[in-house]
Amino acid sequence: MNNVDVIVREVGLRDGLQIHATFMPTASKIAWIEAEAAAGVSEIEVTSYVPPKLIPQFVDAEKVTRRALAVPGLTVAALIPNSKGAERGLALGVHKLNFVMSVSKTHNLKNVRREREESVADFRRIVELVRAKPALERPLIVGGLSTALGCSYEGRVPVDDVVKYAVQLAEAGADELVVADTVGYGDPAQVRAVFRAVTAAVGKLPVAAHFHNTRGTGLANVDAALECGVRAFDASLAGLGGCPFAPGATGNIVMDDLCFMLDSMGLTTGVDLEKLLAVREIVRAALPDIEMHGALARAGLPRNYVPASARRAA
Ligand code: COA
Ligand code: ZN
Repeated sequence: MNNVDVIVREVGLRDGLQIHATFMPTASKIAWIEAEAAAGVSEIEVTSYVPPKLIPQFVDAEKVTRRALAVPGLTVAALIPNSKGAERGLALGVHKLNFVMSVSKTHNLKNVRREREESVADFRRIVELVRAKPALERPLIVGGLSTALGCSYEGRVPVDDVVKYAVQLAEAGADELVVADTVGYGDPAQVRAVFRAVTAAVGKLPVAAHFHNTRGTGLANVDAALECGVRAFDASLAGLGGCPFAPGATGNIVMDDLCFMLDSMGLTTGVDLEKLLAVREIVRAALPDIEMHGALARAGLPRNYVPASARRAA
């Protein structure tokens, strides 16, 4: 989907569900993926290749991946914490491997039980595994940097540390970076400082943003990142989400509100807002106990709202 101004990527099936104790039935996960793709979301992080013993929500990772790969035109991504996760993704033929490490030492130890240097070394091994595949079968490899705008163990995270690990992942062979505010500490001024520093350090490599709305700064942070040239954003339908290994973590920015804000600003996303809102019912029906957020769902579209694509065509 290169014919849109901004790419929005659904991460609710991973970030949203990993913190939720109730298992979402596999059929509901698939229905969610199919409906959101039909609403125009072109990229979905559908699952996580972590040990099911650690996060039982992802015991169906293989099945969910296979079904998502059958959805025409959808870019299917999955989270990986290590090379074992990459091997699982390669065996399935997933399109994108979203590797995750944390900029803060403590969160990296709690989340993936490794020093940051060990995670970088793991990432290099993953790049080798991917490059051993024939060119046409290679997934894209994304270098994800968690706790890049703050850590609930360590507090503020130095911009220099974010840049250091961004450069290491870039040099190791990442196709893209994702800079993540895992615990929602970031504000727009900080977002500008971090994203300007990272984009200046990694040249043309695409840098995406992953924000949580824990303290209400999520969409303001999106605007700040847009100013820095970021054109891909993670979000989750109804604002589900949070890292189970970060105290106080809550939901991602709300996909529905993100799409409305971008569209309202005249930036096309390819997403049909009404169809997207309807997908919430699939989640509500499957997980009646999950907390759902969203200002657009509550307030509705403005009277006589004209989508950005139609305004442009007129
Ligand atoms: N998928 C499935 N199984 C895996 C795996 C993966 N990605 N990685 C390791 N395992 C298995 C190993 O094969 C081993 O199995 P065994 O006991 O049957 O031999 C077992 O898990 C332990 O392996 P080890 O390499 O020692 O892992 P660990 O216990 O040090 O855990 C991680 C490291 C990275 C696997 C784990 O901390 C993790 O998954 N973290 C991610 C947490 C997360 O999802 N956070 C939220 C998203 S940011
Ligand atoms: Zn997250």
